[in-house]
Amino acid sequence: MKLPTLPKPPLPKRFQDAPARPGHPDKLKPLETLKEGGITAADWVDERTALSGGLRWLMFRKVPKGTNWFYTLGSATMFAFVSQALTGVFLAMYYTPSPTQAYESARHITNDVFLGEFVRGMHKWGSSVMVILIFLHMARTFFFGAYKYPRELNWVIGVALLILTFVMSLTGYLLPFDQRSFWATIVANNITASGPFVGPYLGDFLNGGADFNATTLSRFYAIHMMLVPGIIGALLGAHLYLVARLGTTAPPWQKVKPADELIEEDA
Ligand code: HEM
Repeated sequence: MKLPTLPKPPLPKRFQDAPARPGHPDKLKPLETLKEGGITAADWVDERTALSGGLRWLMFRKVPKGTNWFYTLGSATMFAFVSQALTGVFLAMYYTPSPTQAYESARHITNDVFLGEFVRGMHKWGSSVMVILIFLHMARTFFFGAYKYPRELNWVIGVALLILTFVMSLTGYLLPFDQRSFWATIVANNITASGPFVGPYLGDFLNGGADFNATTLSRFYAIHMMLVPGIIGALLGAHLYLVARLGTTAPPWQKVKPADELIEEDA
């Protein structure tokens, strides 16, 4: 015997055929109604923010003829920075920036925490990789003449990024708080303090007093994990904005044709 089936519940109103609208004699089919409503999350966000226009502007750009692998060095540096930020977040979950506990917490990360040695190793080697890549990227932009008009400001932002990367290396070096990092920081702070004019002030600022003391470590930690990464992130945004706005430079060996010799393909 066939069991009686319950009647199906009606489709929600917005899934039913929409009535014809003035000027649109055809009824809208359910799917079209859904499309009009922007069914995907991306559509929903885009309808309200128009972000996809900005993304298209940033990602789909024309690049000069002769663009080659050397042009990937900037993105590689950026990747190294993102990797440092991510591994740094996980290290910060276990690290304690106190003179009495810092060494022990770093030892704990390496010896006890799941994948701790791996993440700490990635952060340590990643810092060297970032410094090497930033120099290679700077050399590429220098030898390709990318510092010239109209990209001077991007070069200046790049110099600030270079200095901030060094500040990250200096402040990060103290954090394991072993003998080597302790004495290396004392030497670095003394060298800084011996600089002309601003040197003594800068030395006092780094030490958090006249000499290395109990607050120096937490000061380095705050600079290392909050102040400098934030500034690097903001400057990176400006750096990429200018790259997208001005385009990248063609390699110096790329011949420039006079306008009347250009054919459609060259343009
Ligand atoms: C955190 C460090 C840095 C990151 C993540 C970074 C990232 C980038 C990226 C992704 C590009 C576009 C692609 C490319 O040309 O490689 C670029 C372009 C550029 N960068 Fe950097 N950069 C950094 C540091 C520097 C430094 C230290 C300088 C120089 C002092 C510099 C100067 C430039 C210039 C002039 C351009 C334009 C290149 C062109 O028009 O061909 N950047 N950067």
